[in-house]
Amino acid sequence: MRPEHKPKIIAFCCNWCGYAAADLAGIQRIQYPDSLRIIRVMCSGMVHPEMVLHALNKGADGVMIIGCQLGECHYIDGNEKAMARAELIDELLEDFGFENDRFLITRLSSSESEQFARTVGTMHKRVLELGPNPNSNQDNGDTP
Ligand code: FES
Repeated sequence: MRPEHKPKIIAFCCNWCGYAAADLAGIQRIQYPDSLRIIRVMCSGMVHPEMVLHALNKGADGVMIIGCQLGECHYIDGNEKAMARAELIDELLEDFGFENDRFLITRLSSSESEQFARTVGTMHKRVLELGPNPNSNQDNGDTP
């Protein structure tokens, strides 16, 4: 029997907004897929494109960056830098043979817990449609 694919999604969440929204979702008991693994960073501007590639090369099925809304970054313009890098990340993913839909960058305020859960749900669905990351070492039933 073919085992069900259980995706793993890495989310780099900035401490002040993305992580706070995730935390609030937990406090409010808002359900979202358990495929998410959160890595708390101080600012989305700290997430270098190599970190996204590294996660995918290590078998993550999807990677998200969640930062603050424009004008709310605690480090002035880290979120703008992160958005500017997103284009580079898209190009890198293509070069390395990953579908662009395996990556998502977004901005949330700390109070947007429901939006956080919806965004995770959207990403989970996307990744399920794409199927397992070819670099994933989990048994997807295709190996003899
Ligand atoms: Fe949240 Fe910079 S502190 S994106």
